Amino acid sequence: MDTATRAIISNDIALSIRERIRPPLKWAGGKGWLVSHLRTLWAEHSHRRLVEPFCGGLAVALGLMPEHALLNDINPHSINLYRQLQAGLRTELSLRNEADYYYERRKEFNALVAEGKADSSHVAALFYYLNRTAYNGLCRFNKTGKFNVPFGKYATIKYKKDFAAYQQVLKGWEFSAVDFQDVTIQPEDFVYADPPYDGVFSQYTKEGFSWDDQERLAMWLALHPGPVVVSNRATERIRALYKKLGFKLQLLEAPRRISCTGDRTKAREVLATRNIKHVWT
Ligand SMILES: C[S@@+](CC[C@H](N)C(=O)[O-])C[C@H]1O[C@@H](n2cnc3c(N)ncnc32)[C@H](O)[C@@H]1O
Repeated sequence: MDTATRAIISNDIALSIRERIRPPLKWAGGKGWLVSHLRTLWAEHSHRRLVEPFCGGLAVALGLMPEHALLNDINPHSINLYRQLQAGLRTELSLRNEADYYYERRKEFNALVAEGKADSSHVAALFYYLNRTAYNGLCRFNKTGKFNVPFGKYATIKYKKDFAAYQQVLKGWEFSAVDFQDVTIQPEDFVYADPPYDGVFSQYTKEGFSWDDQERLAMWLALHPGPVVVSNRATERIRALYKKLGFKLQLLEAPRRISCTGDRTKAREVLATRNIKHVWT
């Protein structure tokens, strides 16, 4: 049995011991579907710290279950929720799938954020509720930073009432909410970067994610001496950018996806890697 296969098996045993746990939020561009590919690349490096500069809904960290991780996203509300889960979030907030109640909670959330009280457990619970109840699980803010997604009109919603399981799983993980370039990586870290897709209007932040940001990211990743994996939409210019910087490329067919706009067309995805032995399956 080769080293990579042995590492995958021991990783799977570790996973079944530590409870498999689902991401708490719905997240546009979530990479749950990519975890099996990433696990093959991660297997030989699972003793390292996992760094995700764009951790989004946590699908990858919860899929790979590293012992140590630095998980960053520019969205301060998702990061506040993860920190509160780590601290053992308990909430009395009533979770109701009703339009009037939703709009009241949205107003309350925006008022607390405007008052500078965004990093409380109550705001974390509100954000969880809004995310589950909002249209298409979108997370969109207007120019003044107010969450403005309409009510989702779902027939039923499964809300989580007990978040206790997350506390144990998130224990060894560190969270931050800064621009990716301000994330401090150590030379031996395994970096998985999943930025907003090239060429798709990004509503994650009011600033968006421009081509300059894509280039800034690629150059920043190219300087890392440890293993790096980056995923993106397989546009011609993204492929050329990473190829020029010495990355190895693999093309994949992404499944139907929820984009920021609710567009569900299939996308071709590229995985670009550096300092990683190739074991594509
Ligand atoms: C494609 S999503 C990541 C999805 C994640 N891999 C998952 O599985 O849920 C891209 C993420 O980048 C974040 N983002 C956008 N601009 C950023 C920046 N300049 N620095 C750090 N994060 C940023 C967005 O908030 C969004 O969560």
